[in-house]
Amino acid sequence: MPHFMTLPRHIQEGEKLHPEATGELSAILNQLGLAAKVISLEVNKAGLVDILGFTGDSNVHGEQVKKLDIFAHDIMIKAMDHGGHFCVMASEEEEDIIHIPAHHKIGKYVLLFDPLDGSSNIDVNVSIGTIFSVYKRISKDGKPGTLEDCLQEGYKQVAAGYIVYGSSTILVYTAGHGVHGFTLDPAFGEFLLSHPNMKIPEKGRIYSINEGNYKYWDNGLKKYIKYLQDADNRGVKPYTSRYIGSMVADVHRNLIYGGIYMYPADKRSPNGKLRLMYECNPMAFIIEAAGGRAIDGNQRILEVKPTSLHQRIPIFIGSKDDVDMVEKFLKEDVDFSKSHTTVKVH
Ligand code: AHG
Ligand code: MN
Ligand code: MN
Repeated sequence: MPHFMTLPRHIQEGEKLHPEATGELSAILNQLGLAAKVISLEVNKAGLVDILGFTGDSNVHGEQVKKLDIFAHDIMIKAMDHGGHFCVMASEEEEDIIHIPAHHKIGKYVLLFDPLDGSSNIDVNVSIGTIFSVYKRISKDGKPGTLEDCLQEGYKQVAAGYIVYGSSTILVYTAGHGVHGFTLDPAFGEFLLSHPNMKIPEKGRIYSINEGNYKYWDNGLKKYIKYLQDADNRGVKPYTSRYIGSMVADVHRNLIYGGIYMYPADKRSPNGKLRLMYECNPMAFIIEAAGGRAIDGNQRILEVKPTSLHQRIPIFIGSKDDVDMVEKFLKEDVDFSKSHTTVKVH
């Protein structure tokens, strides 16, 4: 691995291997990297607003003090709407699709994003992130993009990625040729390749789920969690429970260590909580590209036909063997006759 492989250089070198590439996707990823740096800087200042006395509606510069998720939303739009690459965008923070301003060139790509994921963690210095998803438009070139451009199945993504603002800032992306992670060097302000060609372990030992919702779960899921906790009955170590409450950070950790992240449907939320278009699809695209799986309980997340911009969907995502196993439990299709377990499903 060459030293100092920056994000722009990595994207450029990847492009050389694909002579058909026009360079547009590279430009998009570079712009996203820039937006990530700006958001990262602001995230690192979170909390200083109070200390420095900017508690009113405006800061020392006379600018409005914005909530961090709205700040991130605005930065993403500002960084991405004028490059001439997109025909339409959509964000968690905006009800409708976002059009490209009339005076900017209209491009052939579509961008969906969750500007700040894990917003309940902002005020308590816990990891948060940004998630993005890129498609090619399906409507006619040259015209403004449409809702249909945004509502494409996840397997049609051309690129997806996320940024975690954690103990350091890391950007992970795939454009269909491997999953690559870049850590932001705060001194140089550059993303440097730190995790080339990431692969999720086939099986993990971590499960991540909000267990406070236990009593609302279906029986299959309750039994699966018990099965993980009772692993020592089968002569293996019990699983470890880890739940940050920022999906992007939970999935990132599980991508590295192996394991499963779940946000299921339950009796109160029949469609789960997370959003298909800018949370589940991009994370599923990345995890599949790294060798894992992502399902909604019935089918592959990436094959779900979207019906609306902000639709919710249950998700089980992570190491292949772990997702295979939860799928069996959800379908109440587990045969324990050959294993030493206390769990009886039938
Ligand atoms: P967001 O901050 O973008 O609204 O998303 C929050 C999501 C997700 O990141 C996280 O895993 C989940 O909500 C946490 O939900 P619970 O608090 O219900 O566990
Ligand atoms: Mn989110
Ligand atoms: Mn969000």
